[in-house]
Amino acid sequence: MTIYFNNGVYADKETMKVSIDDRGYYFGDGVYEVVKVYDGKLYTAQEHFTRFLQSARKIRLDLPYTIEEFTEIAKKLATDNGIVEGHVYIQATRGAAPRMHNFPGEDVEPMITAYAIQNPRPLSKMKEGVAVKTTDDIRWLRCDIKSLNLLGNVLAKQEAYESGCAEAVFVRDGIVTEGSSSNMFGVKDGILYTHPATNLILNGITRRVVLKLCAKHSIGVMEEPFTLEQFKEMDELFLTSTTSEITPIVSIDGNSVGDGAPGRVTERLQQVFEETIHELKMEIN
Ligand code: PDD
Repeated sequence: MTIYFNNGVYADKETMKVSIDDRGYYFGDGVYEVVKVYDGKLYTAQEHFTRFLQSARKIRLDLPYTIEEFTEIAKKLATDNGIVEGHVYIQATRGAAPRMHNFPGEDVEPMITAYAIQNPRPLSKMKEGVAVKTTDDIRWLRCDIKSLNLLGNVLAKQEAYESGCAEAVFVRDGIVTEGSSSNMFGVKDGILYTHPATNLILNGITRRVVLKLCAKHSIGVMEEPFTLEQFKEMDELFLTSTTSEITPIVSIDGNSVGDGAPGRVTERLQQVFEETIHELKMEIN
């Protein structure tokens, strides 16, 4: 039995119902978050729920819970579902109303759904690295919002999968922005490069952890746009996300990155990232 949360109610997934008129279903009119669970504990929950509320505000959606309340909901779902290693998914839509583009009346409540699921860490990909494929960034200009509207991301990921690649790399006007569900990093001469946190990317929580770790461990960072040509010439590449953590990229569009094996800086960052997980596991909560 999987326990889901739906607007204040915790119950078996099978008993839950969402309206056919839900605006998430009609328009993708909503926002979401994915929070990692290690050893039954939430990783960077505060950062995720802060971003969740920010995303909601950016689409003018008022949410009925605070960061602390969302954290409690996520904790309860992880505990009640017995999740040791996995993630919590949470989304909020603008609620259910007969289909019309403009917002429904004030009496329509947001629809908040959440669950926790077991999901082992992708350890072999993290060790061996993955292949990626570049594709046009056809998405809208508010990629900073973690919106449910993911059609551009879905099409890109599918294109990558069909070419035997684990991720798609978005390129907009010759500039590498991010992955279809991850942020992109390159290392050249020991310096880390990543797209700045503008409206063209989602400012990933894992991305922020990596940047903090770079500051702590004296790894130079350039948060500046770089071209696809520059990206392909980097010594090392990797991607980050809540579920992929730090995953090395060993090939891009069929060509090896560096010597075709995960790079030294990437592995060092994986190691110090691991220490943050260890610290979480040691925390008493
Ligand atoms: N995706 N960029 C995009 C477009 C993403 O969808 C994600 C995360 C990231 C990385 O963000 P974070 O480090 O906060 O997970 C960047 C999640 C995991 C998903 O859609 O499943």
